[in-house]
Amino acid sequence: MAKTCFLPPMFMLLLFVTFRATLSKNSHNITTDQSALLVFKSHISHDPHNLLATNWSTSTSVCNWIGVTCGSKHHRVTALNLSFMDLTGTIQPHLGNLSFLSSFSLRRNSFRGPLPVELTNLRRLKYLNLGNNSFDGEIPSWFGYFARLQRLLLYANEFTGAIPSTIGNLSKLEKLSLFNNNFKGQIPTPIGSLSNLKWLYLDNNSLSGNIPIEIGNLTMLQELELEHNNLNGK
Ligand SMILES: *[C@@H]1O[C@H](CO)[C@@H](O)[C@H](O)[C@H]1NC(C)=O
Ligand SMILES: *[C@@H]1O[C@H](CO)[C@@H](O)[C@H](O)[C@H]1NC(C)=O
Ligand SMILES: *[C@@H]1O[C@H](CO)[C@@H](O)[C@H](O)[C@H]1NC(C)=O
Ligand SMILES: *[C@@H]1O[C@H](CO)[C@@H](O)[C@H](O)[C@H]1NC(C)=O
Ligand SMILES: *[C@@H]1O[C@H](CO)[C@@H](O)[C@H](O)[C@H]1NC(C)=O
Ligand SMILES: *[C@@H]1O[C@H](CO)[C@@H](O)[C@H](O)[C@H]1NC(C)=O
Ligand SMILES: *[C@@H]1O[C@H](CO)[C@@H](O)[C@H](O)[C@H]1NC(C)=O
Ligand SMILES: *[C@@H]1O[C@H](CO)[C@@H](O)[C@H](O)[C@H]1NC(C)=O
Repeated sequence: MAKTCFLPPMFMLLLFVTFRATLSKNSHNITTDQSALLVFKSHISHDPHNLLATNWSTSTSVCNWIGVTCGSKHHRVTALNLSFMDLTGTIQPHLGNLSFLSSFSLRRNSFRGPLPVELTNLRRLKYLNLGNNSFDGEIPSWFGYFARLQRLLLYANEFTGAIPSTIGNLSKLEKLSLFNNNFKGQIPTPIGSLSNLKWLYLDNNSLSGNIPIEIGNLTMLQELELEHNNLNGK
């Protein structure tokens, strides 16, 4: 009796272990993370304090590099924080290979250019802060795929175009900070479905049209900034 009960779970466990091994063999690992970060580093054109130049060295594990945090469970890069380092550069498509990244901050540097579509692979992102740089181009509609995103901070850049309505898909979003950019068009109505939103900063853009009444549905909202736009009734 005891034996027949014991065998099937063992079998299941074996199957599971085999499946896990197959999965990790075919997907990315810490070596992928290292090469992604080395490509990123090679496109940093100005590093005045020589932070990455000397510290991001292949003679130590990527997990010891300044600004890099690895998770203990999967031994992959989970956070990248290069805030306040006075770096100039662009975001390379390779960063999309950091598939365990949940927190990414380049706050207050001089990064520029558009955001590559490969970033859409960062499905674990909870925190994205690209504030106070010189990024341009549009917020791509694929931002709607960041299902776990809680904070999206793109303020003080040169982003333009419309705020994509797929932003209404970010159901975990608590903070959306898009002020001091060049966003145009109407505030998308789906913003009213972000039921966890507490802070919404859209001030100092070129937004126009009516303020969607659906914003009144945001019961968690603590702060709303809409000044310095071309909105009706403002
Ligand atoms: C990462 O995966 C590659 C194959 O995709 C393999 O050659 C390499 O040994 C792996 N590295 C680690 C640290 O597991
Ligand atoms: C890189 O910086 C980290 C964090 O400041 C430090 O712990 C590490 O020793 C440095 N590594 C090298 C090779 O300079
Ligand atoms: C990133 O680093 C800066 C400066 O060290 C720190 O103030 C900030 O809290 C960090 N951000 C995150 C998300 O860890
Ligand atoms: C990482 O990303 C780049 C560009 O998106 C790609 O060419 C490369 O093959 C990817 N994979 C690895 C394992 O580096
Ligand atoms: C952006 O950074 C500059 C310094 O580079 C600082 O003076 C300014 O206050 C920052 N702006 C915001 C909105 O954080
Ligand atoms: C919205 O989110 C759902 C669930 O994460 C996803 O299946 C869907 O493709 C997303 N749509 C867009 C347009 O981002
Ligand atoms: C509005 O944003 C621009 C940058 O896009 C900045 O130069 C300007 O000082 C901001 N104005 C206000 C009133 O915050
Ligand atoms: C959101 O607000 C609109 C207009 O005020 C209302 O018609 C709609 O029922 C609300 N939706 C939800 C899900 O509360």
